[in-house]
Amino acid sequence: AKKAVLGPLVGAVDQGTSSTRFLVFNSKTAELLSHHQVEIKQEFPREGWVEQDPKEILQSVYECIEKTCEKLEQLNIDISNIKAIGVSNQRETTVVWDKLTGEPLYNAVAAPVSPGSSVPVAVVPSGSSVPAAGTSSVWLDLRTQSTVENLSKRIPGNNNFVKSKTGLPLSTYFSAVKLRWLLDNVRKVQMAVEENRALFGTIDSWLIWSLTGGVNGGVHCTDVTNASRTMLFNIHSLEWDKELCEFFGIPMEILPNVRSSSEIYGLMKISHSLKAGALEGVPISGCLGDQSAALVGQMCFQDGQAKNTYGTGCFLLCNTGHKCVFSEHGLLTTVAYKLGRDKPVYYALEGSVAIAGAVIRWLRDNLGIIKSSEEIEKLAKEVGTSYGCYFVPAFSGLYAPYWEPSARGIICGLTQFTNKCHIAFAALEAVCFQTREILDAMNRDCGIPLSHLQVDGGMTSNKILMQLQADILYIPVVKPSMPETTALGAAMAAGAAEGVGVWSLEPEDLSAVTMERFEPQINAEESEIRYSTWKKAVMKSIGWVT
Ligand code: G3P
Repeated sequence: AKKAVLGPLVGAVDQGTSSTRFLVFNSKTAELLSHHQVEIKQEFPREGWVEQDPKEILQSVYECIEKTCEKLEQLNIDISNIKAIGVSNQRETTVVWDKLTGEPLYNAVAAPVSPGSSVPVAVVPSGSSVPAAGTSSVWLDLRTQSTVENLSKRIPGNNNFVKSKTGLPLSTYFSAVKLRWLLDNVRKVQMAVEENRALFGTIDSWLIWSLTGGVNGGVHCTDVTNASRTMLFNIHSLEWDKELCEFFGIPMEILPNVRSSSEIYGLMKISHSLKAGALEGVPISGCLGDQSAALVGQMCFQDGQAKNTYGTGCFLLCNTGHKCVFSEHGLLTTVAYKLGRDKPVYYALEGSVAIAGAVIRWLRDNLGIIKSSEEIEKLAKEVGTSYGCYFVPAFSGLYAPYWEPSARGIICGLTQFTNKCHIAFAALEAVCFQTREILDAMNRDCGIPLSHLQVDGGMTSNKILMQLQADILYIPVVKPSMPETTALGAAMAAGAAEGVGVWSLEPEDLSAVTMERFEPQINAEESEIRYSTWKKAVMKSIGWVT
């Protein structure tokens, strides 16, 4: 007999840079009933390039749905209780696909950018493996540095042209320049655009189009939060901006329809597999970029409430209400959420750190000093100090508050006494120092210092990291017992959508989530000394490449 559950269930896809998850929550308590996670490959075909295979990403979503449904069945929970599905995703990562075949158009045959030329030269980069289907340019990818430099020379009017409309600085991080690169360098993309077959999207668009039927009537849409990371979207009018599209040379017909973050976009239509097919007909009714989803999952609905999510990168978002606040200290202005077609839009100030969890992955995959990410805590605990070693993981330059593409990673302060445990500790400290830098910038922009920091994301299960964070920020750090806040936010948006109505977005519906608090344990002076030494190390990392 199927077990009775307390209320309707809501599923959420959380498609991050490092992994994909599908999670199912009880909409009456936010209890996480079941989930499955699959790690995603990242290709580094050459220095500064980061690619992923959109088909592998889609496949991982199917696999996660399938395995989660199996687990629910083992728990005797009827999957027909799943009433809605939300999608949250790594933002900015850029996919162009063919709407007639459903195939991504940028293959692993990558094109080198020869200065001054836009002629595509197809080569297989040495040392790279060739993914079967195609690749997407990931948000961390630096290949567009010269595109950015060229564009910045011809910004119309004043330098504020892009920022005043989008809230973003002109940077390799955002989708418009990645799309420009694809249009300049990949013949297949150029041809598909000419023949009106090309669709552009960030990962949310790619997934929703595929999950709602793909070539058989898939819905080509995105939500306001994801759109606000493309650098083509006007965050005031909440529409694609014609002038920006002209500036970047982007044909507007390939862009997805922009919808709110909580409404029915379409129904699940997947014949892919039996178990995943069990969700056939379930509405996809929530969509948020992962950082916005975490803001919703943490219930940061009030002006001044903030959260920090520790994923591949680290992203601190502070809700600024209906006001677009423009930073004087290197933060981004972004759309926080719009939970319904007729609901108002909320904005956020964002401090983005490119490398957080990615530094642990690098210690595992590139240096091999740990076998699994969890081992980092054990190593760091063995020494309890970095012994004066500082690690600035500026692998993709530095994001907020510096926006310095010229920075590269450094490890400094080494002595003969330094060992891998100190380096592990320094890597964790680096995540905390970077957060401190954006919190300081946020406090300066907002004028009212945060009294505590709400945190979430995979890395928050690391207790040493959490304690270090409290010590380095010198304010309490508060983490929910259930770290999957990103997925929870997407599920909440999906469950609350008009026509679904199974989630009220009131605190009572989160009764299964309890909080853990970490208080600063060192003295303020020590905290300041460590932080100022970190800043010295950052200065050494800047200007490494010219
Ligand atoms: O802006 C990039 C961000 O959305 C990626 O998130 O979780 O992969 O670090 P994550």
